[in-house]
Amino acid sequence: MKALQPGSSLFVLFAAAAAAPAAPAAAAADTQSLPEEDGVLQLTTEDFNTALRKYQQLLVHFYTPLYQEGLRVKAAFEGAASELQGSEVKFAVVDVTKEKDLAKELNATSSAGIRLYLDGDKYNPVPCPVPQNSASIVTWLKRRAGSAADLITDLGQLETSEEVTVVGFFKELDHDYVQVFYSAAIDLPDMKFAVTQNSEVIRKYGQTHDVVLLLKKSKTIQVHKITPLTSKEDLIVFITVFSMEPVTEYTGKTASQILSSPVLNHLLLFIRKSSADFQEIYSAFTNAALAFRLKILFVLVNVDESRNGRLMEYFRVKDFEAPLVRMINMTDQVTFQLPSDYPDEETVKQFCQSYLDGKAKPKMRSEPIPERWDEKPVKELVGLTLEKVGFNPNKTVFVLFYVPYSQRSQALFPLWEDLAKALKHREDVIIARFDASANDINMSMQGPYPTLYLFPALCSERMVFYTGERKLKDLLVFLDEEMEKAKKYRVVVNMQALLPKKLPTVSFV
Ligand SMILES: *[C@@H]1O[C@H](CO)[C@@H](O)[C@H](O)[C@H]1NC(C)=O
Ligand SMILES: *[C@@H]1O[C@H](CO)[C@@H](O)[C@H](O)[C@H]1NC(C)=O
Ligand SMILES: *[C@@H]1O[C@H](CO)[C@@H](O)[C@H](O)[C@H]1NC(C)=O
Ligand SMILES: *[C@@H]1O[C@H](CO)[C@@H](O)[C@H](O)[C@H]1NC(C)=O
Repeated sequence: MKALQPGSSLFVLFAAAAAAPAAPAAAAADTQSLPEEDGVLQLTTEDFNTALRKYQQLLVHFYTPLYQEGLRVKAAFEGAASELQGSEVKFAVVDVTKEKDLAKELNATSSAGIRLYLDGDKYNPVPCPVPQNSASIVTWLKRRAGSAADLITDLGQLETSEEVTVVGFFKELDHDYVQVFYSAAIDLPDMKFAVTQNSEVIRKYGQTHDVVLLLKKSKTIQVHKITPLTSKEDLIVFITVFSMEPVTEYTGKTASQILSSPVLNHLLLFIRKSSADFQEIYSAFTNAALAFRLKILFVLVNVDESRNGRLMEYFRVKDFEAPLVRMINMTDQVTFQLPSDYPDEETVKQFCQSYLDGKAKPKMRSEPIPERWDEKPVKELVGLTLEKVGFNPNKTVFVLFYVPYSQRSQALFPLWEDLAKALKHREDVIIARFDASANDINMSMQGPYPTLYLFPALCSERMVFYTGERKLKDLLVFLDEEMEKAKKYRVVVNMQALLPKKLPTVSFV
């Protein structure tokens, strides 16, 4: 743990940035000590409010211990915490899987992440952008604290920089849109920002005042005019899109950039870089990319690279299928497949346009129906049979959605066998499983796999997400309760059917 030396610049920065009087840390009521580990508060439902009262700037990481993608964020948070020991910002963590009540009260259940609570205000925390590393968090706090230090720099330093720098050329710094520029800088802590009013510099880049430029090695990549109508969101899209290449290769380094892009339509090209037609396809793909720059993010996935195996499994792409093009709507994770075997420029462009026009058909994949799929105690469902079996009005169906390569999934198989055995005599119940890595699901699902859903016997299509303990006893209780509820529900639906009204539409849970 390397604590920041008192008196070092960041400490001074945060100390100076706190305009308000000293935090009420010494208030008599709050002298109870809060549990800490390496200077980071370990908060629970009971002591969250105390911490909120005690620290004017409380940076809280809401985390889920088992969530893989969270590891990088966790490391970044710990790094920043140790770097900023003794600053005005107090770091704290909340385990949302343990502190369920607190997470619910703070609306932090679905959107875990890092939030900054200011002046004890529980209701309006500032979300911290998903950090790449500890520097992201430190820079974010620094920029928020109003340190323009790295905003106004000598452009001379940038001339050789390999990194993209965002430079604002402004005549006056008191325009509202300069503030918009600064707020974009806060939200993009991993990018370098600079501001200049120097006419000579501005002329050197062949510009006039009031533009934002992306520069790399003193070459202009892209220019964006800034006007009173420019919003922070516009600027962020402009900066993030044009600081990336038209086609970004998916690698460990670019993954977070891709996933955090504000462009929420991603076109993935799965291809072998070693294949004979690689150059041809790549240049067709790049030309199409240039035509949809702000709307669709073009990503290349090299199928030769073994580290991309997980990604390919996730998208259910087999290496022999390459070259293959998939569109992913990142908002709802629905995928669309290029309706052609060969991704030439025209085909890709037409596909992108039809997708944006809402005319592309989602791609649904299914394994063939296994022979004798319904003879074992646990029935094996596939894409083709899921809805037909699940939404049977006469049967209650409990389905384990699993991914075969995951140990957490495999660990549930014996429990599922036990459940099927325990319910063997029940004609009205089907216990089934569904390989979600090989079959698409045309329903919105919650939680990471393995995930459990009950399809109660009903007149309508309805699924109930199981959140209880993964133990036989609890599963059986849940099943009975839901079957009771479904019966009552069916009565209500039937009665309503008698009324001259529309039936209630039931949404998927
Ligand atoms: C959580 O969300 C609800 C509903 O939007 C709102 O009433 C409540 O104030 C929120 N709580 C917090 C702590 O933001
Ligand atoms: C992506 O999905 C969201 C949510 O379903 C939807 O609102 C949006 O229109 C979709 N985008 C496109 C381009 O189809
Ligand atoms: C459900 O049961 C009713 C009444 O026994 C029967 O008419 C109907 O065909 C059954 N539906 C299915 C899908 O098995
Ligand atoms: C998915 O389900 C919806 C609603 O049930 C249906 O309209 C749509 O056609 C389905 N899509 C596919 C690809 O099966």
